[in-house]
Amino acid sequence: MADTILTTSVAEAVAILASGGLVALPTETVYGLGARADDSRALARIFEAKGRPADNPLIAHVASIEQVGDVVLSIAPCARDLMERFWPGPLTLVLPVREDMPSQLTAGLQTVGVRMPDHALTRAVIKALGVPVAAPSANRSGRPSPTTWEAVREDLEGRIDAILQAGPTTVGLESTVVDCTGDVPVILRPGAITLADLQSVHPEARQRRPDEAAHRSPGLRHRHYRPDAEVRWVGPFDTDASGTGEAAPDPTEAKHAASASYIGLHDPPDPLRYVRIEIAPSLAAYARSLFHFFRLSEADGVRSIHCERVPCEGLGQALTDRIDRASGSE
Ligand code: TXA
Ligand code: MG
Repeated sequence: MADTILTTSVAEAVAILASGGLVALPTETVYGLGARADDSRALARIFEAKGRPADNPLIAHVASIEQVGDVVLSIAPCARDLMERFWPGPLTLVLPVREDMPSQLTAGLQTVGVRMPDHALTRAVIKALGVPVAAPSANRSGRPSPTTWEAVREDLEGRIDAILQAGPTTVGLESTVVDCTGDVPVILRPGAITLADLQSVHPEARQRRPDEAAHRSPGLRHRHYRPDAEVRWVGPFDTDASGTGEAAPDPTEAKHAASASYIGLHDPPDPLRYVRIEIAPSLAAYARSLFHFFRLSEADGVRSIHCERVPCEGLGQALTDRIDRASGSE
């Protein structure tokens, strides 16, 4: 394939998508790899470019609530409430899919994930195209999601038609995915819209149970978010947290002391051992930086990325989920 075009032009992005091309697009969560949702050949190219397993469905991105009807059969009242409250924003709703949608969009399921991204450029693209845009995260399958256009280029140069260039993403973790096909909204993937946020609209909203995971959210079956370095939990190092510090250092690791990096909310007890340290001023900043930090650490050639543990609630739940999966502990 020819070189990937870098552009800041909405019109150019629209023209490429209209003719069945693949364009990486900025969103508030992570960059997505876009193709028109009604074009099965373009959708097949997404799976090829990413090396994505064929059983992992895509998210359809819309520019308005009216456009949701282009991909779904019906919108349950509870889903409409969530759209009205949280869109545009980092919330994907799983709803029954229209029968005329290409099977690549849903990986053969009867449902489809839909969201309205909170990014003016990308909404302008979708609006001008006039068709919803299917977009998984714009990384090679299994790699950390891209939070900059440069990260997209690192993974997909020469494999996609264009990248719509914009700034780094502001949330940094992928959207909350919520199943709205049953009686109550069920979180399939945690994100920046938290359980408490959902419960403020629908008090009965809940997490998925572990036994529900595999069939409800196919993406959970696959390897995810792994940089070319081991990712592990450490800490927490909050001085108020009693007795929960890191276990004694592993002696076999001492010889690699100069090849680890650290990200967290607090100073690590042994800063000299790290070649790269990022102390995030808030949980939101930790989330925003995580995937970029993985990639920077990888470029440093570190063997081990140490992530400070955070309480598994609110945004901390999404962070914990991504770090668990990157570390292979889920
Ligand atoms: O923030 C995001 O959601 C980003 C940006 C680009 O919008 N997109 C993203 O897409 O993270 P992707 O493909 O990397 O993750 C989509 C997740 C997967 O875990 C997939 O299994 C789940 O959504 N999903 C999509 N359609 C589904 C469906 N019909 N039922 C259950 N889960 C679904
Ligand atoms: Mg992804």
